[in-house]
Amino acid sequence: MAPFSRFLVAVTLLFPVIGGVAAGGRDHGGTRYSGIFSFGDSLTDTGNSLRLAATGSGPSSRPPYGETFFRRPTGRASDGRLVIDFIVEALGIPNPRPYLAGGKSAGDFRRGVNFAVGGATALGPDFFSSRGLKPFVPVSFINQTSWFKNVLHLLGSVHERRRIMAQSLFVVGEIGVNDYLVALGNNTAREARTLVPHIVAAVHSVLTEVIAAGARTVLVPGMIPLGCEPQLLALYKRGDHDPESGCITELNDLAQMHNRALNGMLRELRLSHPGSTILYVDLYSAIADIIVSPRKYGFMNKPLAACCGGRGAYNFNMTTFCGAAGTTACTNPSEYVSWDGVHFTEAANRRIACATLKINSPTLLNPWTAEARQRVIGCA
Ligand SMILES: *[C@@H]1O[C@H](CO)[C@@H](O)[C@H](O)[C@H]1NC(C)=O
Ligand SMILES: *[C@@H]1O[C@H](CO)[C@@H](O)[C@H](O)[C@H]1NC(C)=O
Ligand SMILES: *[C@@H]1O[C@H](CO)[C@@H](O)[C@H](O)[C@H]1NC(C)=O
Repeated sequence: MAPFSRFLVAVTLLFPVIGGVAAGGRDHGGTRYSGIFSFGDSLTDTGNSLRLAATGSGPSSRPPYGETFFRRPTGRASDGRLVIDFIVEALGIPNPRPYLAGGKSAGDFRRGVNFAVGGATALGPDFFSSRGLKPFVPVSFINQTSWFKNVLHLLGSVHERRRIMAQSLFVVGEIGVNDYLVALGNNTAREARTLVPHIVAAVHSVLTEVIAAGARTVLVPGMIPLGCEPQLLALYKRGDHDPESGCITELNDLAQMHNRALNGMLRELRLSHPGSTILYVDLYSAIADIIVSPRKYGFMNKPLAACCGGRGAYNFNMTTFCGAAGTTACTNPSEYVSWDGVHFTEAANRRIACATLKINSPTLLNPWTAEARQRVIGCA
């Protein structure tokens, strides 16, 4: 084994150098990716829910959503840019077209599509109705998968499709928050915990779909620390609070259970698909780090309160949700982690994107360009 393992070390050390030189020409100011294909919910939706009858007039269609960056509501559930916006900015690739914005020809979709819809679940309506539950919006990963297949067919010959897929970056997730919120309806995590393997199986199904279509690089963001969400802190009446973070232990345990199951599935998927690079994005740690040490990252020392919404300990009240008449946003959203009690501020999204770009994989980014990319979006 010894000579082999030495050889492996050498290859690993050399790879970034080769990658740096090879990518250098192609990569000058740009990237090795031609675009992004993304799947998910409101943490990734850049304009789909705005175009659905069921959700088109939701909070993110109204001020003060978008006030920090776009200066108008764009359907993004934040005061400004989402993690996906920062990632495309850092990589120098176009923003993916929201699928529901439509398009007629391959040209409209070749450089990436965003299938994420605010409120979307991983699991389909049949699953929920079998449990006597009702999802918030009529969109699940089943819809997003069939939309992806529609786009594939538009993109041309099988050879052409595979070429485009191989050059694109895929982002599958975050997904599952809404599934858990639906199941937490009665203030117990019992039902939500039973959803974990089903949600992970739904993510697995999308991953095998995109890999079969030719995806070579896939990011899979995990679950966020649910117990630190102002909405749940205000409404979920059970469970102990962690003394260090103030978050609800039982719900953070649920998120970590989800992440362990997701990682177990990803390990197996990597073994069966060695030709693709499947990278886990640890959203949980990225957000938990900010909550425990807000000042270190430039946030105010009150990381569990929302910037925009009702009054109360967490600035959250369902009847006076951010954007409703009589609600106000804080003066400086960049000091807050949570924008509206459910979604993150642009400032928090930037931090999450910075953590994502630090993933140590020469396939995602070689180390030298990784640092330059982080500078582009203002990572410290
Ligand atoms: C999503 O799929 C379900 C069936 O699974 C369907 O009832 C629903 O209308 C679809 N949603 C959209 C927005 O197409
Ligand atoms: C909540 O309680 C109602 C009435 O007891 C029940 O019908 C429903 O299935 C429960 N929902 C969840 C999520 O447990
Ligand atoms: C939420 O806001 C409504 C309307 O202002 C108010 O009646 C209610 O008491 C508030 N709830 C909490 C928990 O503060």
